[in-house]
Amino acid sequence: MSNAKNICTVCNYIYDEAVGEPRQHIAPLQSFEDLPEEWNCPDCNSKKEMFQPCSCVRLPGLEQVCEPHKKIKLNVPIDSKSKITKESPVGELVIMNPAFTQFFEQYGIDYCCGGKISLADACQKRHLDVETIMQKLNIVSEKLEPVLEPDWTRTSLKELIDHILACYHDPLRLELKRILALTDKVARVHGNSHPEMIKVAEIFARLKEQLELHMQKEELILFPGIAAMEANKSAMFGCGAGIEHPIAVMTMEHEDAGEALCTLRNLTNDYNPPPDACTTFKVLLKSLANFESEMHLHVHKENNILFPRCLKISSASNEAKSSIAIS
Ligand SMILES: [Fe+2]
Ligand SMILES: [Fe+2]
Repeated sequence: MSNAKNICTVCNYIYDEAVGEPRQHIAPLQSFEDLPEEWNCPDCNSKKEMFQPCSCVRLPGLEQVCEPHKKIKLNVPIDSKSKITKESPVGELVIMNPAFTQFFEQYGIDYCCGGKISLADACQKRHLDVETIMQKLNIVSEKLEPVLEPDWTRTSLKELIDHILACYHDPLRLELKRILALTDKVARVHGNSHPEMIKVAEIFARLKEQLELHMQKEELILFPGIAAMEANKSAMFGCGAGIEHPIAVMTMEHEDAGEALCTLRNLTNDYNPPPDACTTFKVLLKSLANFESEMHLHVHKENNILFPRCLKISSASNEAKSSIAIS
């Protein structure tokens, strides 16, 4: 019996081949692939192209029916409690214990673009008492299920890049497309009573374009260059230029994306639905909140782990070259 399921990325309806769709007189065992191109979602009328196989998408609230996107998880010892100090950069705390990301998200502490800031300064920025936050972090490190991932400060750069591509770039492309359809729909239907949602749709459309271009630059230029640099142990990158400039450009683009996410959060009252929000409106806000935390993790792994490791290789190689030149 067929058990393939495809989900509408706009309204979360699931087309189950084992069941078909009685409302549209589609018999069980009708494969999704063979449905006519003009077929529409029976719940929200979206086109067939808005569907994805259930195993490819992570949708908020649907984890029980959709297999979450495969994340690489390996056991690594997590030893963070003894190292939490006021001076610890927040990005480093997350590197020590990835479970802290959930805690920082909850308190609005920026650990990706603001990852170099000390815990004390990050708390001051959010008007939080650093002593209380440190106590809570200690409790978190004792009680929270550790997020088991490889220690990305020790794997090869190539492994880290493969992880970023599989766990962030590929799902991000799907999410950008899915959320854009939602922002357009909510702006169209609720734009009169909620003009801020028209702004949200405009900002998200721009952010989608920028992120797609950004990922393309990383995938076509920066990441292959880093892999080659690691393989050759050379500071040279691509056509003989250094790696510092492309990394600076990518970091700047991360900051721009971070600002756009802040604006989206402010416009939507921290992603809280208004009393008159319909289901699509609520799904959109939940999706945006989820999108923001995935972006924070994605940028954290590039800004605070991948890029500093590349810059270290580059400067070591430059130092070695200049000492050869002097001797
Ligand atoms: Fe990326
Ligand atoms: Fe990036």
